Amino acid sequence: MPESFFHQKVVWITGASSGIGEALALELARQGARLVLSARRADELQRVASATGLAPADVLVLPLDITDEASMPSHTQAVLRRFGRIDVLFLNAGISQRSFVSETDLSVYHRLMAVNFFGVVALAKAVLPHFLAQKRGQFVVTSSVSGKIGVKQRSGYCASKHALHGFFDSLRAEVANEGLRVTMICPGYIRTPISASALDASGKAYGRFNKAQAEGMPADDCARRILRAVATGREEANIGGKELLGIYLKRFVPGLLSRILRQRPIEAV
Ligand SMILES: NC(=O)c1ccc[n+]([C@@H]2O[C@H](COP(=O)([O-])OP(=O)(O)OC[C@H]3O[C@@H](n4cnc5c(N)ncnc54)[C@H](OP(=O)(O)O)[C@@H]3O)[C@@H](O)[C@H]2O)c1
Repeated sequence: MPESFFHQKVVWITGASSGIGEALALELARQGARLVLSARRADELQRVASATGLAPADVLVLPLDITDEASMPSHTQAVLRRFGRIDVLFLNAGISQRSFVSETDLSVYHRLMAVNFFGVVALAKAVLPHFLAQKRGQFVVTSSVSGKIGVKQRSGYCASKHALHGFFDSLRAEVANEGLRVTMICPGYIRTPISASALDASGKAYGRFNKAQAEGMPADDCARRILRAVATGREEANIGGKELLGIYLKRFVPGLLSRILRQRPIEAV
């Protein structure tokens, strides 16, 4: 079997305590990567670290809250002290939303942007000087089909994911000649607990599992496809089932998509 692109690479994953991030950790470990696992829940990160089967020397559990922007440079230094370099950074942590614009408290938008956009930007900026110095490094950003299309009950989530495309397309253009890569991942429905932690109109956890995610692509399948896209240097990859059709409708027949989305029933749980 040919050696994996990730063999012996130092890979930092945010949102590694659950869902897609956890699946990425398990698959990357199988492919021989050395891992840094980050999210807020240290106990869940420990569980994932054990499940990877990696030797303690090859995995660092680094709990962090991505909204604590000022702490990102010191977290980056902690990774560099431990492994001496970072090869790939998965900016994957995120939260979703379930509420209509008319009823959503403004604070919910601030929270969604703090986690899904400003936290991501803060960590990317903390790692960027290191990538530039070594003239190598890859940012992998988990956006969403919702980063391409606006849908009901996700106004803030869609806004935060759309914002990522603007920021990282600009960064890609700035650093492409420095040997750095940016890969945007746009998943459709993936089987994870993301709807449970989604924010409702007042900012409380929605607390339910949506049918769309429950019937979505398994997270381990999604993770393998993400890793293929990263290894082949793709700038963008859409991963999911028939919901991906929306991205192509938006590009080629936007009026049709708009009519479909207007008629779409509100969240069926
Ligand atoms: N599942 C889908 O259908 C789908 C579709 C499109 C895009 N996505 C995107 O995929 C990414 C991963 O989501 P998932 O589906 O795997 O959901 P998930 O299982 O709920 O995972 C979300 C991860 O983000 C972490 N996180 C949340 N807030 C954080 C914070 N303030 N600081 C640090 N980490 C934080 C969570 O860990 P802690 O709670 O321990 O902090 C968890 O590890 C997200 O960016 C999401 O928007 C998912």
